[in-house]
Amino acid sequence: MLAIPAYVPRNLSSPIQPIWETSMKTAAENPRFRLLMIVFAVSTMALALVSTPLSAQAGQAEREGRALTIGLIGAGTMGGAMGLLFAEAGHQVIFSSRNPDELMELVQSAAPRASAGYADAAAFLGDVIVLAVPPVAIPQIGEDFAHLMQGKVVIDISNPRVDREGPITNEWLEMGTGLAMAQYLPGARLVKAFNTLGARMFQNPMRNGVRIGVPIAGDDEEARNIVADLVRDAGLEPVIVGPLARAKEFDRGSPIWVTGASAQQIRETLSLP
Ligand SMILES: NC(=O)c1ccc[n+]([C@@H]2O[C@H](COP(=O)([O-])OP(=O)(O)OC[C@H]3O[C@@H](n4cnc5c(N)ncnc54)[C@H](OP(=O)(O)O)[C@@H]3O)[C@@H](O)[C@H]2O)c1
Repeated sequence: MLAIPAYVPRNLSSPIQPIWETSMKTAAENPRFRLLMIVFAVSTMALALVSTPLSAQAGQAEREGRALTIGLIGAGTMGGAMGLLFAEAGHQVIFSSRNPDELMELVQSAAPRASAGYADAAAFLGDVIVLAVPPVAIPQIGEDFAHLMQGKVVIDISNPRVDREGPITNEWLEMGTGLAMAQYLPGARLVKAFNTLGARMFQNPMRNGVRIGVPIAGDDEEARNIVADLVRDAGLEPVIVGPLARAKEFDRGSPIWVTGASAQQIRETLSLP
């Protein structure tokens, strides 16, 4: 079996709980998981041999000693764009999909800091996990993989839509999508962020010469700060709003949702200091 190094990000005051302590035993007993580990190891070695489109220079996160392994569950419009930016910043990214063989182009674009696998590999190996799937997939992902994400920073970027997700959307929006998704992810350090963006804003993070702001809500302060660093890595400006319950204030339909508002405008709108 692939030996997984004891990786602890250097800037964390309390290290993220090593994932193998909680989940390695059950995961290792699973034949599909063992196969995933082999696929992961082989693809990582193969990628080391291909050309490296990313700069040979260390990214910002590497230079600052805070590079993480980021598992992206979903590698479509948002997951793909975010993974490329995080890899460029120096993080190791694991793109995942139900068809990981279709992710090779993305992996090559982010090489040498990327690999591809199924969602369980991203959940198991990531220090931070981004849920970049349709909102309606999150309950099932929680059921299948919450045990692999215990104590980890999990970012919910979802914007449920009633015409796509159905009537449950009204229940989620009433609760606030942050708290709603937390129901399905017990034990994760859930942070809501990036949902107020349109995917194209990653390509052009400035509006009228001012950097676009990204509101962040979560109950765990350290998790919020890790996500704030990732927002900066993506070229945007973080705004810590507060606990997860406040994510409701920037859900779909709120005054700062996909408007390209600056950090200052977000603070004014949400009455933040
Ligand atoms: N697009 C935007 O501008 C935007 C902006 C802000 C937030 N968001 C939010 O970001 C999330 C992703 O949106 P997107 O536009 O990136 O969607 P997308 O382009 O359709 O990508 C969705 C990804 O999820 C995977 N997926 C779909 N169903 C799945 C399931 N049941 N289990 C596991 N993986 C599944 C798909 O991969 P496979 O089918 O290959 O498995 C695909 O990689 C959504 O929650 C959306 O509300 C989107």
